Amino acid sequence: MDKKVTVIGAGNVGATAAQRLAEKELCDVVLVDIIEGVPQGKALDLAEAAPIEKHDAHLVGTNAYDASADSDIVIITAGIPRKPGMSRDDLLTTNAGIVKKVTQEVASRSPKATLIIVSNPLDAMCHVALDASRFPKQRVIGMAGVLDSARFRAFIAMELNVSVENTHAFVLGGHGDTMVPLPRYSSVAGIPITELMTPERIEALVKRTRNGGAEIVSLLKTGSAYYAPASAAVEMAESILKDKKKILPCAAYLQGEYGIKDLFIGVPVKLGAGGIEQVIEIKLTAEENAALQKSAAAVQELKSALAQLKY
Ligand code: APR
Repeated sequence: MDKKVTVIGAGNVGATAAQRLAEKELCDVVLVDIIEGVPQGKALDLAEAAPIEKHDAHLVGTNAYDASADSDIVIITAGIPRKPGMSRDDLLTTNAGIVKKVTQEVASRSPKATLIIVSNPLDAMCHVALDASRFPKQRVIGMAGVLDSARFRAFIAMELNVSVENTHAFVLGGHGDTMVPLPRYSSVAGIPITELMTPERIEALVKRTRNGGAEIVSLLKTGSAYYAPASAAVEMAESILKDKKKILPCAAYLQGEYGIKDLFIGVPVKLGAGGIEQVIEIKLTAEENAALQKSAAAVQELKSALAQLKY
């Protein structure tokens, strides 16, 4: 393939992302993990599925970084996932150290890559990756909104018994309890959901979306969601690799947009070959804006906590 994507972390999210990238034949894939044998074993297993899945993506698993050189995209999933009772923020100290180290390793070998951050707490890890890579803000992007809006879309489709393909949804803000699902901008075949459901049902779906990650954690008990997070990261990667210029909600480093400065926060962006090619500013109601600012305050708190940490 003429494109290369490195996935750091060959755990649940990383290995699933590698599988989707290869099976969509988007690129060659380098899978890196700290555990000896795991990335090698998973890459080989995926390569052995290739004749059946009918793709020619080349897969390499490794504990070193040399094979990652000159990647177009690096997806960072390294870190520890949540266990029941933990919030994403409980992962801060451990994952900050891991994300800093792996970002330095990949940034020096792939100076032109776009980084897609998946490790949690997402918005804080984006700050760590931006600092550690010294990449321009357009090339450090957090995966959150695509996942949160996919969850909202799935719940809308279940509620109305319609195809998920007919659903569109928008979720702004941080990837946490303060995320801001926007029913006004969520629709089924172009019809706003506010025309199709009672305010009470919409509120119930919004609440379930906000709690979507925790719902999976409480069911799995030993880890957090990975099928949908991997799909979301791969949708972002595809838009960049193919220069599709999709408008997707992603965590972007804002410098004044939406009245927010020097913070990663989930907003609609245009994703193309240059990474974030545009931050789309949509008009928010006073209530929506207040929710977004509250979400930004929560991200600011984590950013300040990071500044106090030695990692
Ligand atoms: N370098 C490379 N890989 C590492 C490092 C490191 N320094 N530290 C940990 N890892 C690897 C682990 O060995 C493990 O294989 O990261 C992988 C994480 O995989 P899982 O434990 O299966 O976690 P996963 O469910 O994939 O979640 C990863 O994404 O959604 C977020 O909150 C989630 O932060 C978590 C991350």
